[in-house]
Amino acid sequence: DLSTTIAGVKLPNLLLNASGVNCRFENELQQLVESKSGSLITKSATLNSREGNPEPRYAPLAGSIGSINSMGLPNQGYEYYLNYAKNFDYNNTAGKPLFISLAGLSLAENKTMCEAFRDANLPCVLEVNFSCPNVPGKPQVGYDMEAMEQALQVLDPIIGRPFGIKLPPYFDIAHFDQAAAIFNKFDNVVFVTCINSVGNGLAIDLDSETALIKPKDGFGGLGGLLVLPTALANVNAFYRRLKPGKQVIGCGGVTSGKEVFLHILAGASAVEIGTQLMEEGTGVFERVQKELVELMTAKGYKSVEEFRGKVKTL
Ligand code: DHB
Repeated sequence: DLSTTIAGVKLPNLLLNASGVNCRFENELQQLVESKSGSLITKSATLNSREGNPEPRYAPLAGSIGSINSMGLPNQGYEYYLNYAKNFDYNNTAGKPLFISLAGLSLAENKTMCEAFRDANLPCVLEVNFSCPNVPGKPQVGYDMEAMEQALQVLDPIIGRPFGIKLPPYFDIAHFDQAAAIFNKFDNVVFVTCINSVGNGLAIDLDSETALIKPKDGFGGLGGLLVLPTALANVNAFYRRLKPGKQVIGCGGVTSGKEVFLHILAGASAVEIGTQLMEEGTGVFERVQKELVELMTAKGYKSVEEFRGKVKTL
């Protein structure tokens, strides 16, 4: 049984896309609905639609170790995703719930979008993204603890029901402590998604001596296998620190059932797939699920609860 419950909604299995991948347009979202994913989440929305940064703005890294991107929040504007959420078949045969990602360029933008979703009173779940690293001049809110707490003080009462936050990776124990202490003050914050891309890497092609992507002199967020240990650390750090009732969604470095198993061991209640979905397409969900079940069977586990968060330490 790979089902899980997040923010009061049941997912038939714990896999979904990482926001940003295959989820900007309705046809892409429909592919996710038709896939074997357990849920789907929309592209991070801003108040107004955006074209994003110049191309090329995504590239896989040589040796299948991951990817780099600086998309720059191309999206259709929140009203498009609100409309999608209004028309979504919440009684679909797959039983998939819908998550909506919001990434306002300012607190005022986030406020307006959250008010609109509150007023629509839909059964979709919000994931507020405090961790886009790719918009020039807009530092990640997730790296400014004061700004993050202030944002939550404004947004939590507006949303008024269980929601989650997409976090950047942290690299210092003091930051895990500070961030978790903030989230523990807000009862509606019932999950955090760890991690967004490892921000502002630089990938260079050896032959041409050229950056792989065009925006920001080649700087972009890193994803894929190379971020797996960072992702697992962040999942486990928050799993250990968050109050009971709060959950962690794992994201980062999943290419097969093995990495999903590791995310669950670290404490993940659901697991998102980004780079591998980008590279492989929506068939990834069926393959990874099969691999996870085979691994669990080989290890003698019947349900994910039996090993969630049970990573052993020396
Ligand atoms: C983008 C990248 C992110 O990592 C994110 O969280 C939101 C948006 C982007 O570049 O589009």
